[in-house]
Amino acid sequence: MSNAEQITQDVIEKYQRFVNPTQVALLKIGGYDHIEHRAEGVVVTDLDGNEYLDCLGGYGIFSLGHRHPKVVEAVKRQLDLMPLASKTFLNKPLADLCARLAEIAPGDLQYAFLCNSGTEAVEGALKIARMATGRTDCIATVGAYHGKTLGSLSATGRELYRKPFAPMVPGFSHVPWNDAAAIEDAITENTAAVIVEPVQGEGGIQVPSDDYLPRVQDICRRRGVLLIADEVQTGLGRTGKMFAVEHWGVTPDIMTLAKALGGGVMPVGAFLATPDIWEKVFHENPFIHTSTFGGGELACAAALAALDVTLTEDLPRRAAENGAYFLEGLRRTQAAHPNVLQEARGLGLMLGVEFTDSDIGKLVIGTMVHRGVIAAYTLNNPKVIRFEPPLIITRAQIDQVLEVFEAGIQDALALLGDLIE
Ligand SMILES: Cc1ncc(COP(=O)(O)O)c(C=O)c1O
Repeated sequence: MSNAEQITQDVIEKYQRFVNPTQVALLKIGGYDHIEHRAEGVVVTDLDGNEYLDCLGGYGIFSLGHRHPKVVEAVKRQLDLMPLASKTFLNKPLADLCARLAEIAPGDLQYAFLCNSGTEAVEGALKIARMATGRTDCIATVGAYHGKTLGSLSATGRELYRKPFAPMVPGFSHVPWNDAAAIEDAITENTAAVIVEPVQGEGGIQVPSDDYLPRVQDICRRRGVLLIADEVQTGLGRTGKMFAVEHWGVTPDIMTLAKALGGGVMPVGAFLATPDIWEKVFHENPFIHTSTFGGGELACAAALAALDVTLTEDLPRRAAENGAYFLEGLRRTQAAHPNVLQEARGLGLMLGVEFTDSDIGKLVIGTMVHRGVIAAYTLNNPKVIRFEPPLIITRAQIDQVLEVFEAGIQDALALLGDLIE
């Protein structure tokens, strides 16, 4: 046994005994029972030296690629000064980051609160919606993914994750995705907010019809209900605009961010809102909502560098152009295999391919890993393989992914043969 094999065996045993035995069994079946060792740009290298093109991007956090030098440098510089906040004095990186977010955010989202993850950002958004309106209820969409802490999970639209932890936080209802009239019908005098992902990510990369979000905004404004845009996955260039709501000229009252905000180096989340909401929530008690780690100097330095890189390297435009190229390729593959692939869809570099059967999709994922491409299905829709590579991916790398995807389908067809004819 080589040294790398011995270490891998040891890690697998530790997963079995101390982490999550079922998870490691699944990783083995999927061909992911390798130790990730280092990463740079679009490429992840395992302990054995195998290289993989990262088309999952850590569920969308690696928009800048792995270890972008400018983010790494900013973090190293800050590390030598002060990594975490004393929580007493003024914090310059935090002030700079909130000001920068206000500058680039759509509409009048002038204030920001910094936290450490997507689900925390959603929790905060839900809390301030309640406090600012004095109402309790929230409308979310079927298939939505907003996180797995209790408040966010109550908004998440899949029973599989909700049911074992019932009862959920009261006041949440779910209406069909992409159906503005259903939102209008569900609003009551107790409704504080509607929460929606501009493009559903874990729901299977669902792009709404062009009139959906403008209509939802119009309904919310007319009925005095707050609109929360959950841009945790879509934000910061992923869909070809800095924020996905910009595709439809929508300006939410509250917006959540995380994932790419940390530049692929630090965990950073945020929720933003208008001055009017902020005044109602924080005026009397500035500590009504707090986080010990949130807004630490190291995280803020990473996020500031990430925003700079996103703008200077024009990542939203690159996502739009290369995403269109990638989607064209996926559509060609779909057209060649209509009995296996139902649809290829997406916006920017947030792409998905829906299989006719989730088991075929899993098989294809496994064969893609063996050929050096990291792929995965969406959490709330296992029929859909998502492609969410770093926004710096090149056309040559996209071509390589498309070739591997085609080869994966050929493998699956050869294995399943008559079963899928
Ligand atoms: C739209 C959206 N909101 C919230 C979350 C939760 O983020 P986290 O996993 O960082 O808690 C996710 C995660 O995938 C997401 O896609």
